Amino acid sequence: MSVCKGIYHVLIYAKTEHKVALRMVLIPILNLNMEKRIVIVTGGAGYIGSHTVVALHESGYRPVIIDDFSNSKPEVLDGIAKITGVKPQLFSLDCRSKNDLLEALQSCTADGEVAGVIHFAAYKAVGESTEKPLDYFENNIGSTVSLLAAMSESGVSNLVFSSSCTVYGQPDQIPVDESAPILPAESPYGYTKQACERLIMDAFKSSMPLSACLLRYFNPIGAHQSANIGELPIGHPNNLIPYLTQAVAGLRNPLTVFGNDYPTEDGTCIRDYIHVMDLARAHVASIAWLESNSPSCEAFNLGTGTGKSVSEVIAAFEKTNGIEVPYAFGPRRSGDVVAIFANAEKAHRELGWNCEFNLEEALRDAWKWQLQLAQA
Ligand code: UFG
Repeated sequence: MSVCKGIYHVLIYAKTEHKVALRMVLIPILNLNMEKRIVIVTGGAGYIGSHTVVALHESGYRPVIIDDFSNSKPEVLDGIAKITGVKPQLFSLDCRSKNDLLEALQSCTADGEVAGVIHFAAYKAVGESTEKPLDYFENNIGSTVSLLAAMSESGVSNLVFSSSCTVYGQPDQIPVDESAPILPAESPYGYTKQACERLIMDAFKSSMPLSACLLRYFNPIGAHQSANIGELPIGHPNNLIPYLTQAVAGLRNPLTVFGNDYPTEDGTCIRDYIHVMDLARAHVASIAWLESNSPSCEAFNLGTGTGKSVSEVIAAFEKTNGIEVPYAFGPRRSGDVVAIFANAEKAHRELGWNCEFNLEEALRDAWKWQLQLAQA
């Protein structure tokens, strides 16, 4: 029995006047909470997952986290609670286990109405995936197979999948829209995103009751404005912003800018950097869209629509935060595409979603988070 249900029963059988008065106040509050539709978030303690849990809470859903903390920390749930006032319910399990997933999903369906599942749980380091392809295939594809099977058995039919603009490789046209061809993957990581998209589309075409949004992220950066949650890379950060903030904080060697001889205006690569809270809100919009557009299976680009070069990002960071970035130009990194940014018109039109933050605000929040980490 959940704590909420336990309190509810104690109150139902209360006899004293004091308890009756308390019951009159508390039962409507508890009922309100029970009535909130549940959204199950695999990888909900991770970077984008934790911000999405906050956004779901703020939009009136009841997020329930599934995470095995293989690439995150349980303390993230305390950070979420500081923002929302509620520590989310947690199922600590490995998403490759269909039986464990099924048990968690059935427990949620017994507890309330489940609006859908958001599936973040996956390994995500491009470089590491070339060293450990078996782990990436087994974990990323295996967990998606198990999740689809558990959803089918438990009668949960709405799925939001965490995909990536990596599926496009270097597109012929930028900004890139969702009709661009899926190119052969550069890395095992990229291949797992393509394979999972394909798997979900095939399941959608089958007799399985399923609706899905395939969300193709561009480059999420920044942190919640409160700095209670943010990105927690374990070990050497591979992505630009966590490395940059750690270098500025003196925790790493100066940043190496990977290549300044690309065919762009300043010679450095161009990406579409999106504030993680904007990305988080797009997941809430996707769940709401699925609730009123089933059956559907659609891909959506999630980016700002504006490309910025690495040199522009460094300059914007210095100007916004009033601090110098130590860096040097180095050789190109293998597998990097020259330039990519999103045409996100479909997400604006269909999901009714737009970005609220600009690059400077995202860089301000990334630095605020790094400063907070130093104090912790
Ligand atoms: N960069 C540097 N120095 C660094 C790190 C990155 O110059 O220390 C540059 C990269 O060369 C690139 C840009 O900063 O030009 C962004 O690099 P990131 O590693 O932050 O991001 P990517 O665009 O390479 O990768 C991201 C996600 C992947 C996803 C991919 C899709 O991390 O998960 O976008 O293109 F697959």
